[in-house]
Amino acid sequence: MSERPDLLSDRWRGRVTDAVEFLQEKGFAGRVGLILGSGLGNFADAVQDAERIDYADIPGYHATTVAEHTGRLVCGTAAGVPVVVMQGRLHPYEGLPYDELLLPTAVLACLGIETAVVTNAAGGLNRYFAPGDLMAIRDQIDLHFHDPLRGLLAEPFGSPAAARVGRVGGLADLYDPDLARKLVEAAARCGVPMHSGTYASMSGPAYEAKAEIGMLRRIGCDAVGMSTAPETVLLKRLGVAPVGLSCITNPARETGQPELSHSDVVEVGAMVRDRMAKLLLEFLPLATAG
Ligand code: HPA
Repeated sequence: MSERPDLLSDRWRGRVTDAVEFLQEKGFAGRVGLILGSGLGNFADAVQDAERIDYADIPGYHATTVAEHTGRLVCGTAAGVPVVVMQGRLHPYEGLPYDELLLPTAVLACLGIETAVVTNAAGGLNRYFAPGDLMAIRDQIDLHFHDPLRGLLAEPFGSPAAARVGRVGGLADLYDPDLARKLVEAAARCGVPMHSGTYASMSGPAYEAKAEIGMLRRIGCDAVGMSTAPETVLLKRLGVAPVGLSCITNPARETGQPELSHSDVVEVGAMVRDRMAKLLLEFLPLATAG
């Protein structure tokens, strides 16, 4: 196992390594990890020589409580790249504490991945974005007002072991700029339109109030969702390079527009997911080249 588990707090490490050992015995390993958001799970069908396991069968994992969210870990190759795919994730609005919520992400990191592609469904704040557009996440504003890593790291401000894996406390360049550029390049290569921007992560499960939408625009956010930020912070602190990809499922709701529902979000996700899968297959060889 990598030295990443050494970076975790005593109270968390054992639970993470139990799941990692269980999965390693089944051959789960990969260079790139992918976390697939609401309605975006079909990329997992493109994985070849796939090994699949339901979250409910992995020690310490919770099954997701949200309709239309699959809860399965898939391992195999995609575009020739060894991958481990989380088909579905837990969200803060499901009410679990962060050590439960982030356990699968910690396990993904401890399986030895170098890069993680974190995807989500998001509302468009940028007025140039339309439903069905994709956005490479360049940075994030975490509005959960709760550092997800409280109590989960052995040395909150870094340690010699953390320095060896290359990350200490700071989150400058949280989303790897080079990989974000490659994601945009992959989109151009396969003719998929792509924006870049800042992702706001809210706790949910309510969609935003009008004043919140106004605030998010004024503080410079282009898209808003209810996931991703806690995961990317953890991945970065564990020495994994995060790449973020939002699927814009709706304009953030304003006066005069119909109420947004979870099924609308999932429906647009379903329309876009083939495009997203094509993009990811183009991106994976670029992400692992050199
Ligand atoms: N707000 C928050 N999360 C979302 C949205 C939204 O408008 N769309 C999809 N996920």
